Amino acid sequence: MNILVIGGGGREHALVLALKKSARASKILCTPGNAGIAEVAEVLPCDPNPAAWADFALHHGVEFTVVGPDNALECGIVDVFEARGLPIFGPTRAAARLEWSKSFAKEFMVRHGIPTARHGSFTHLSDALEYVRQQGAPIVVKDSGLALGKGVTVAHTLEAAEKALEAIFVGELGASESEEMSRREVVIEEFMTGMEVSCLAFCDGVRAVMLPMSQDHKTIFEGDVGPMTGGMGVIAPFPLMPEQLEEIQTRIIEPIMRGMALEGTPFKGMLYPGLMLTPAGIRVVEINARFGDPEAECLLPLLESDPLEILVACSEGRLSPDLVRFSPASSAVVVMASPGYPAGSTRGIPLELPEVLPSGVSVFHCATAFESSSLESSGLENTQLVSSGGRVLAVQATASTLELALTQAYEVVQNIGFAGAQYRWDIGFRLREKR
Ligand code: GLY
Repeated sequence: MNILVIGGGGREHALVLALKKSARASKILCTPGNAGIAEVAEVLPCDPNPAAWADFALHHGVEFTVVGPDNALECGIVDVFEARGLPIFGPTRAAARLEWSKSFAKEFMVRHGIPTARHGSFTHLSDALEYVRQQGAPIVVKDSGLALGKGVTVAHTLEAAEKALEAIFVGELGASESEEMSRREVVIEEFMTGMEVSCLAFCDGVRAVMLPMSQDHKTIFEGDVGPMTGGMGVIAPFPLMPEQLEEIQTRIIEPIMRGMALEGTPFKGMLYPGLMLTPAGIRVVEINARFGDPEAECLLPLLESDPLEILVACSEGRLSPDLVRFSPASSAVVVMASPGYPAGSTRGIPLELPEVLPSGVSVFHCATAFESSSLESSGLENTQLVSSGGRVLAVQATASTLELALTQAYEVVQNIGFAGAQYRWDIGFRLREKR
């Protein structure tokens, strides 16, 4: 089967490598891809819009497409592919609204009795400011739309909440054009205490099968402080009690699936609610409609059954738990980001990767490119691997214990040449503290 993967980050690198192991996979294409993906798949350019992706798929004889990023789902890639008879893994634009409108997701959860933090949604700065002043701090301010994981501020003071609102409505994340501003929406939520875990589930519109629980580390600095990023490292499996897994299944995943079907937008694809384990029970922090990144880099190497069979079964509405089998081993991912991330990023930093990796270790490319320079005197061309964005590499290790997986991942991190790289030394700290 010829497969197309849409996207160009670490998640898509992990997807391509997982799909390559499928007995049914023949050619794998990826757009836009990156330097790491180009080593294992055919990377080709394509205009980033649904009609162009569908033309590309037809032109290259693609038989199945897997969508990585949220913005491709928001712009309706699945709807266009389905209308043109092209098989694809992912939710329709209407179903992906769970992610691209946090305000919609919150109202949906209220409608279907899914446990989540109290909230208010606002489209005007003055109303939002009045609400936060009434509620007080700590409080959570979220851009309702997609913001590369960076649209959330946990405000510990009223001043921080006001600053976050102003950033969304008038600057930084927001647009200065008045037309754009009038389309902005924020969700303001009650602050919840507890530990966050990532719950990912394959879905076929009716049924959902959960992957092992994992835990991301979302802030840039150790100890979970500093600005939010797309994710700086993940560990899996994150151990939960059987009754907690049951609670997630029956009070969160199943009601989402039932609610979406009832509202005429059945959810097919990867459902990824971010959860908070609060003293009062498990609450949904947000709902994503795609593989997490770097959760995909952490979980896919643990998948023992055929990924293509699972994704095709989801798209054909015949998912069964027997298709999904994970190794009981532990997996850890440490993300290496460029200097300045998440406020900005330095591109073009030369990267030196070890030629041979220890068994069980992978280096997924999140934002890399090849830069060519020609030596005029000799006429020779020199190609150098360089960084091309904020999160650059995700170093993953699989081992019999989490401790071992982390040790192996950090050993490789230290052997990567990447001037000024930022990474956290404390990935997995909550489980390590428990020892
Ligand atoms: N790991 C966070 C995300 O994928 O949104």
